[in-house]
Amino acid sequence: METYTGIPKELKLAVLERIKPSGSEREKLLTIQEELALQVKAAAERLGIPDVVVKMVGSAARGTWLSGTHDIDIFISFPEETPRKELETMGMAIAKEVAKHAEHAEDRHAEHPYLNIIYKGFDVDLVPCFRVASASQIKSAVDRTPFHNDFVKPRIKGREDEVLLLKQFMRGGGVYGSELKTQGFSGYLTELLIIHYGSFENTVYAACSWKPGEKIDIMQHSEIKHEEPLVVIDPTDPKRNVAAALSLDKFCMFIDHCREFLKSPDLSFFFPAPLLPFEDSEILERLESRKSAQLAIVFKTPDVVEDVLFPQLYKMEQAVAALLKEYDFTVIKTGVWSGKTETAVMLELISGTLPNVKKHVGPPVWVKIHAEKFKEKYQTADGVFGGYIENGKYVFEIQRKYPTAKGLLEDRLMSCSLGKQVHQSVNEGFEIIENAEICRLKESDFRVFLRKWM
Ligand code: UTP
Ligand code: MN
Repeated sequence: METYTGIPKELKLAVLERIKPSGSEREKLLTIQEELALQVKAAAERLGIPDVVVKMVGSAARGTWLSGTHDIDIFISFPEETPRKELETMGMAIAKEVAKHAEHAEDRHAEHPYLNIIYKGFDVDLVPCFRVASASQIKSAVDRTPFHNDFVKPRIKGREDEVLLLKQFMRGGGVYGSELKTQGFSGYLTELLIIHYGSFENTVYAACSWKPGEKIDIMQHSEIKHEEPLVVIDPTDPKRNVAAALSLDKFCMFIDHCREFLKSPDLSFFFPAPLLPFEDSEILERLESRKSAQLAIVFKTPDVVEDVLFPQLYKMEQAVAALLKEYDFTVIKTGVWSGKTETAVMLELISGTLPNVKKHVGPPVWVKIHAEKFKEKYQTADGVFGGYIENGKYVFEIQRKYPTAKGLLEDRLMSCSLGKQVHQSVNEGFEIIENAEICRLKESDFRVFLRKWM
């Protein structure tokens, strides 16, 4: 067992100094929120849409946003009995009215459409939702959000700094964000952890001893079995696990981050030094010392949001690894990187080539009909090196169909099951590059990815 020293107060203060919104940042955000709320109401009136309530939600409304993250969540709430189609058209009509004053606007889709705008430099989501009686009666996933606000706001008062510390600490550990790309901790989840454990410090200490299956049920209102590594029952909806998006690896990365931090508490756990892009010479050195095979499947980045793209890339990663395995290649690890124009699925193999000879094991000799057929087929076939009996079975040494991983991928990649947009893009063209050819990919973000990869 490690014995841990406490977390120095000066360290927390030094972190807060960098992440806590200043008085003027706070005022600016409040002003903008109010401005937008008035605009939503005015837009609803202009369009003659009655019964619309504007709700400020998310970290901006709770005083738990990290300085510099200019993200405002505004919910446009309609009476519960509004038909879904109407909610969508009226909600988007109002949002688009408001967007007339914005620098930029973009239609987005979660379970139903919403509008993302850039307004005076702030990243604002305008989200239509139903005004349901409780979070357990929601008609759409976003309907829960206003209830989160009502639960968190009064309970987090006076502990906002603890939330900020935990969010930044998770950012530093690469585990903050519940998007499907990250599969980490959401903002609401960090707030619930602070409400449950009381402080940043207590959360970090507790997490050191977490195991998969860890369950936190603040309201003690759920008996449901969940399969996820961390189960934090939503205080506003007993059926829901707030940590459902957290992957096992991000869960464990957080545990590790907490343990290492307590061994030697230090600013770098909150603000890790940025990684420098890998230079060509460093790539070549690593290839030389690792002596494995590096392959990259490169294709045009599909034009879809990350929440759609990344699940498809993770799926492709799995499918490609399975294909390589099926043809006797040994995969060391897989990864994905996606930039503005190009996307790469990365593969490290024990070797990118296999011998031409492949051992093909047939039926036992005593299974007469099958065994005779098998022998006849391979005895007379082209390119067979030879045959023998081993452990009672016919064995033929035949020509391997794919002696190189590159050849296999070029021929069979399209037969892998791929998500819709990734399939489309790969179908339009892809390239398999190997080892030193990887130097062709120059994007600095890819080179940073490579530093972690190799
Ligand atoms: P955000 O993703 O903006 O999170 O969602 P946040 O709490 O404001 O945290 P940061 O500081 O911006 O990172 C806004 C609200 O939407 C709900 C939560 O109530 C959240 O506070 N939400 C969001 C969910 O319920 N689930 C999600 O996966 C995302
Ligand atoms: Mn937010």
